[in-house]
Amino acid sequence: MQIKSIRGFNDILPDKIKRWHHIESTAKEILELYGFSEIRTPVIEFTDIFARSLGTTTDIVEKEMYTFTDRDGSSLTLRPEGTAGVVRAYIEHALYSISPIWKLYYMGMMFRHERPQKGRYRGFYQIGAELFGSKDPFSDAEVITMLWRFFEAIGISNYLTLEISSIGDDRCRPLYRSKLIEFFSSRKDTLCRDCLRRLQQNPIRILDCKQEGCKQLTQDAPSILDNLCKECSEHFESVQKNLQNIGINFAINPRIVRGLDYYTRTVFEVTTKELGAQNAVGAGGRYDKLVEELGGPPTPAIGFAIGMERVVLLHEKAFPEDFKKQVDVFIAYIGSEAKKKAFLIADQLRRNSIATELDYEDRSLKSQLKRADKLGARFTIIIGEDELKQDKVKLRNMKESTEEEIKFEDIFPKLKNTCSHLSNTTSDFHRNQKAL
Ligand code: HAM
Repeated sequence: MQIKSIRGFNDILPDKIKRWHHIESTAKEILELYGFSEIRTPVIEFTDIFARSLGTTTDIVEKEMYTFTDRDGSSLTLRPEGTAGVVRAYIEHALYSISPIWKLYYMGMMFRHERPQKGRYRGFYQIGAELFGSKDPFSDAEVITMLWRFFEAIGISNYLTLEISSIGDDRCRPLYRSKLIEFFSSRKDTLCRDCLRRLQQNPIRILDCKQEGCKQLTQDAPSILDNLCKECSEHFESVQKNLQNIGINFAINPRIVRGLDYYTRTVFEVTTKELGAQNAVGAGGRYDKLVEELGGPPTPAIGFAIGMERVVLLHEKAFPEDFKKQVDVFIAYIGSEAKKKAFLIADQLRRNSIATELDYEDRSLKSQLKRADKLGARFTIIIGEDELKQDKVKLRNMKESTEEEIKFEDIFPKLKNTCSHLSNTTSDFHRNQKAL
């Protein structure tokens, strides 16, 4: 039997990864600018954490979780989303006792047993952010703005629309719920089987049904925005004003339901028309009750998650050219002595942040140069026996097709300014290496 990956799970090969790195590092930069710090939680939690957070009647909990029994009999689940685990960690480590406000972000793989199609997978990556400790509408606006600025920064905001709504809180939602039950109960004949069940358990979810009959019916259903209590209504007004004041464009869509039960008040989605059915690129909202429901102190919170694969698809559309791995220098050599020298020079260049590549297979000069070309090297250093004797190398500028002979000790000084792109990667590794 031929080995293969599990349906709905993808490999991201090196030819794609540069683009991923670019998107992830832009996200990190923006998130950190807004004061968010990274948190890493396990990809697996007790099933209960998700069932209690997302709601037992949600599609995710009912049909999409990867759940199994551990050897000790406990039920474990691969995380279908990131919020529940972050809230669990927030409570477990009593972060609230350290600071009143926490801004946390995460990047990682999520697991949902959905029917795979373009943009929808069973293993997929999210970039998420969660802000704990503020109920102020300015924090809603801050989180939504940060999300939008990220899409602007990576250059895909032209493909996107931001939609916002409010789904009220436990004062106004029960009343709205009964209005919906009343409305749909008198139209039961038109509802699909799933919605008949939803009518009893979670009528708001009917508004999100994809069946034509139900969709038609929901056109005339009461709108949540006409049924918000005074506080929720004022909060929503204020979120809108704050967004308008800094020029973030949005549309109000009272039909945003969200697939998870923990939301209160503000909810939002960023959608695209470019990806067919999988139109949500990022989404989130406020969840002021969740921390308390999972055993923490009352703590308002708001957050979002972005679907990485969908962002990557849009990014490929906006910037079709490859994000290639950059090689500054390729070193070609002839003979075993030159090979040793090449190895030494490569080490010296790499320690000084110059990306360097060479072959060890003792191939002909021609095929080494071919490889240099293929890698897109900006310079090739050629070391033959003659050069070795004279303590020199040939330095070829691949772009300008020029060649010169330079002394060994001049290689680094000559290249350091031209190959400066890597000196921007001011990682400790590079800094330390330079200091050596
Ligand atoms: P969500 O709407 O379930 O929210 O997922 C957020 C994003 O993840 C979606 O907009 C979509 O881009 C991506 N996504 C979801 N399912 C898949 C899939 N099967 N394949 C590929 N991409 C997918 C949440 O997960 C919440 N935790 C967001 C949140 C954070 N709310 C508050 N804080």
